[in-house]
Amino acid sequence: MEKIDVKIKAVKERTYPILIGENLLDDAYEFIRNVTDAGRFLIVTNNTVYSLYGDKMKDDDADFIIVPDGEEYKNREILNTIIDKALKMKLERKDAIIALGGGVIGDMAGCAAAMYQRGIDFIQIPTTLLAQLDSSVGGKVAVNHKLGKNVIGFFYQPKLVLADTNTLNSLDDRQFKTGLAEAIKYAFIEKTCNAGEDFNLFEFFKKNRDEIYNKNHKILKQLIKMCCILKSSVVNQDEKEKGLRAILNFGHTYAHAIEIVTDYRYYTHGEAVSIGMKLIFDLAKEIGLISDKYYNDSISLINDYGLITKLGINPGKEIFYDAMLSDKKVKDKKIRFVMPVREKEVRFYNNIDKNMILRGI
Ligand SMILES: NC(=O)c1ccc[n+]([C@@H]2O[C@H](COP(=O)([O-])OP(=O)(O)OC[C@H]3O[C@@H](n4cnc5c(N)ncnc54)[C@H](O)[C@@H]3O)[C@@H](O)[C@H]2O)c1
Repeated sequence: MEKIDVKIKAVKERTYPILIGENLLDDAYEFIRNVTDAGRFLIVTNNTVYSLYGDKMKDDDADFIIVPDGEEYKNREILNTIIDKALKMKLERKDAIIALGGGVIGDMAGCAAAMYQRGIDFIQIPTTLLAQLDSSVGGKVAVNHKLGKNVIGFFYQPKLVLADTNTLNSLDDRQFKTGLAEAIKYAFIEKTCNAGEDFNLFEFFKKNRDEIYNKNHKILKQLIKMCCILKSSVVNQDEKEKGLRAILNFGHTYAHAIEIVTDYRYYTHGEAVSIGMKLIFDLAKEIGLISDKYYNDSISLINDYGLITKLGINPGKEIFYDAMLSDKKVKDKKIRFVMPVREKEVRFYNNIDKNMILRGI
């Protein structure tokens, strides 16, 4: 088992472990009871994940709420049903909410934990690749609004992240690739994460494509660990996204707009991110920020992993731009882009011409 301690510089006592390994669900409550005094647990999950892993999480002290499956249900209505369930169970302040599922469940359950009685303990049990290497770490929890992605939420750190890599065996190809899109993102921002370690993820991805696609658990654990170290380093430096943390949104300014204009139904989050990364590389090349070589190497990497890079709909430029303006990085109506500048490095730009931004749409 791999263990990473996430530290939050701003608040010393807020350190929590990420545990990564096989079969961790078998001893889940042992790990959980090490980090919380909770007497009762509300497990938030969906029908898909419940049918696969619900049995492993059954316990005399735990109750489930099973919500519908899908990004389109990551909203205030479903969030309310979770709070209703916590109230009906009469959860107390010392009790805990557990997220058992992908990023959608993690974000929504975390939001409920942050709200209920002004905050109760929160445990993340991520079951998708995307959630294990990205969304369960760092304490951003939120639900969507029709007009904006993740606009209703909190910074609320979990007490524990328990990533059982065995759960990845039941992921279908599409969802596995979705996680790889967020993972490859770290190859493009690695140096700017300033983690004090050089993993050379770019090379790692080039070398291990087959191992990754064959779900070699040793390689997957390594990948999840590296991404979690990079993310937690960024979160440690800037928990509340006053600056640096926004680099984690590489490709997301386009991605969030894609998700909004398609009503959260057409693309998975990771697919929107891979299209977003391609658009941002095109933009960077167009305005002369990166060399042809870096552009070609990066696009080859995205293509080698078979990630989607083309927007298959025509939302209309003005509608798309309007959706981009709802991004949380917009300041004074200017969209702030995280742009590639050279290998593994990104920088912020906010004065890019609107026509240029929309050229690829
Ligand atoms: N909080 C953050 O920092 C952060 C970062 C990145 C992404 N996100 C959010 O994460 C969400 C995307 O997460 P996701 O890609 O995990 O999507 P998801 O939660 O919708 O899960 C994808 C699909 O896989 C199913 N599933 C989950 N675990 C499974 C398993 N082990 N086997 C088989 N099927 C399984 C789910 O039921 C769902 O149908 C988005 O809402 C995005 O905004 C948040």
